Amino acid sequence: MKPIQILVVDMGSQYTLVIGRTLRELGFRAAVLSPGKVESWLKSNKPKAIILSGGSASVYEDNSPKPPKNILKLNVPILGICYGMQWLAHKTGGRVVAHHERKEYGEAVVRFDTKDLLFQGIKGKNVVWASHGDSVEKVPAGCKIIARSQDAKVIEAMSSPTKLIWGVQFHPEVTHTKEGKKILVNFLKRIAKCEKDWQPADIVNDIRNETARIAAQKKAIIGFSGGVDSTTLSAVLAPVFGNKLLAVCINTGGLRRNELEEIKFNAEAAGINLKIEKAAARFRKAIGRQTHSELKRKRFKKLYGRILEEEAKRFKADFIVQGSLATDLIESGSAGKADLIKSHHNVGLNLKVKELHPFRNLFKYEVRELARSLKLPSSVSERQPFPGPGLFIRIIGEPPKKDKLDIVRWADGEVTDILKKQKAYDSVSQLIVALDCQRTVGIKGDGRVYAYSIIVRGVRTLDFMTAEGVQFPANVRREISSTVTKHPKIVRVFFDETNKPPATTEME
Ligand code: XMP
Repeated sequence: MKPIQILVVDMGSQYTLVIGRTLRELGFRAAVLSPGKVESWLKSNKPKAIILSGGSASVYEDNSPKPPKNILKLNVPILGICYGMQWLAHKTGGRVVAHHERKEYGEAVVRFDTKDLLFQGIKGKNVVWASHGDSVEKVPAGCKIIARSQDAKVIEAMSSPTKLIWGVQFHPEVTHTKEGKKILVNFLKRIAKCEKDWQPADIVNDIRNETARIAAQKKAIIGFSGGVDSTTLSAVLAPVFGNKLLAVCINTGGLRRNELEEIKFNAEAAGINLKIEKAAARFRKAIGRQTHSELKRKRFKKLYGRILEEEAKRFKADFIVQGSLATDLIESGSAGKADLIKSHHNVGLNLKVKELHPFRNLFKYEVRELARSLKLPSSVSERQPFPGPGLFIRIIGEPPKKDKLDIVRWADGEVTDILKKQKAYDSVSQLIVALDCQRTVGIKGDGRVYAYSIIVRGVRTLDFMTAEGVQFPANVRREISSTVTKHPKIVRVFFDETNKPPATTEME
């Protein structure tokens, strides 16, 4: 697979994913990363173009998103969008101000200098979509103003070909900006000399070709959770390996309601042979009376790895296929160094059997598009993530005993059904339903009960590094609390709307 040419830094905008998607529509792959991951990614990648997204912060806020400073010294053309432009101006000697009479929200008419490479081939006066309070009042020395709002109050774009800096105050990635796509293509092709490289069918073929030699002589198993990564990877590899690849789903006992049926459905859609290994009792025993979340995770992981090794031996597999993505490898500090084959899985499991990592250069949003291009059902391509240790880490402060697992599984199923019925499920990136084992007093019928609480949390996020806590509408919250408290052991429902940070996505 060719190296990624474009780095998009997510500076906190709700449109960052739209930038990535628009670039793919235009035929370009991009790594979309939060600022914290950029430095380690840059150690092993050489982008030809960098885009800094918009964001809701002000450059003067203490905790405003900041890419690493050396990004300005890479000798790579940078396009700052909205907050991204303000950050560029602020860092290179310009002035950003919060002028309320200059704020824009919605369509704006802009006059462009069409001699600048960024605006070549577009109309001199055009409609854009803008959303900002702060704006650049003075461009840095050496930068030219290349667009202004019709009333000339707002500096809408700046450029410095010698400093390799371009900035636009509006959003070229949204469709309301009439010629936004042309502007992005100008930046990528005319300025940064990038070539088109995103074609899902080509990526699928690259991975198939890369694994074909191994598949000719070897057998492999793939740990199958039914999630987007393992299912899509199975669909990519099934035609290459044929019967020499077996999907193994370990039923840990921590799965959600109906999850086994969904796993079977997804395996069939991927065209892969599936074995379900029942291991609930082994996991309960391994975790034992452990209440500490990290220790629950460690014990879970150890047994999970051991069972995978047992299954590999049983199938006489030479390899275990893993769906590790570029982001997993970035987090483990091995981005770019990863080969197709590794004998040690530095992302986590440390298996004795060799592993294959065919998705090591891909990002989640790309895997979702591969799934769509392979015509996998939306139960695969749009599937929310679910942690390996599953419901075990959603029983807070108690060992995951069967009675507690049953309660949290039931509550999770009910909340999921309500959100789907109310069309609120697809708008969250992940739903978390947890059991708080601290008992509190309640009244059921005429009697006093002393029982548990359920915590419901929805998050919206790009990459789970940061996340926004979702506020469900009042009628949805009411339906959830009245339904869930029908369980004899549940007396209260809490809704957790905290952002990450400071909270994490999971409760434990
Ligand atoms: P946090 O809680 O760290 O979660 O904000 C971020 C994302 O990671 C998932 N997660 C896990 N996935 N094993 C997994 O396979 C785990 O132990 C684990 N812990 C968290 C979490 O569900 C969210 O999607």
